[in-house]
Amino acid sequence: MTSRLSHIHRFDAGTDKRPLLLLHGTGGDEHDLIDLGRAVAPGAPLLSPRGQVREGAANRFFRRLAEGVFDIADLKARTQALADFTAEARAAYGLEPPVALGFSNGANIAAALLLLRPEALSGAILLRATLPFEPDTLPDLAGKRVLLLSGRADPLTPVATSQRLAALLAQAGADVRHELLQAGHGLVQQDLALARQWWAE
Ligand code: MLT
Repeated sequence: MTSRLSHIHRFDAGTDKRPLLLLHGTGGDEHDLIDLGRAVAPGAPLLSPRGQVREGAANRFFRRLAEGVFDIADLKARTQALADFTAEARAAYGLEPPVALGFSNGANIAAALLLLRPEALSGAILLRATLPFEPDTLPDLAGKRVLLLSGRADPLTPVATSQRLAALLAQAGADVRHELLQAGHGLVQQDLALARQWWAE
C-alpha cells in the first residue's frame, strides 16, 4: 500500500504494458480486486486505488443518499479526483491509459469516468454497473472497448439501467459488448471467463 499520490493505492508492476485500473465495490479496499485482476490479465500492471468516501466502516468511491440513490454532485467531483489520480499514477509509474476493471460501486465510477473524463481510460470492464447519471452531452468514446457484464437477477442494478448504460456508451462511439448473465449482484465464474476472453482478444 502507498499513499504517496492523492489516493491510497496499491501498484503491482506486472510484466506487460497494458495496465488495469482496479476499482473495488462498497466495503472493499485496494487489495480486493488484485487476484481478480491477475486472473483476467496475468501480466498487466495493476493500479488499485482505495475509494475516499466512508459509509460507516465501508470504503466507497462516492457518496449515496440511499441504496441506489447517488449524490450526483459528489459522484462528479470524486470522478474528477479519480481521473486526476490516474494521471498522477501514470506519470509516476510510466503507464499507458489503463482499462478499468470495476465491480459494483467501482464499476459505477468507472462508467462515470468514461462519461466525464474519457481520456483517463482506454476501455473498461464493468461488472454489475448501472448508469451513474444521465449525461448532458455525450463524450467521444471512439476507439474504446467496453465489456459490461450484468446479472439478470441483480436487485441493485435493474437490467433496464444497464441496458441504458450500454446504449449510451455505444451511442458515444465505444465498442460495447453487453452480456446478461444468470446471476445476481455477486460475481460468477462466467464473469471471469468472459473478462479473460475479452482482455485476450
Ligand atoms: C452503488 O452504490 O454504487 C451501487 O448501488 C452498488 C453498491 O452497493 O455499491
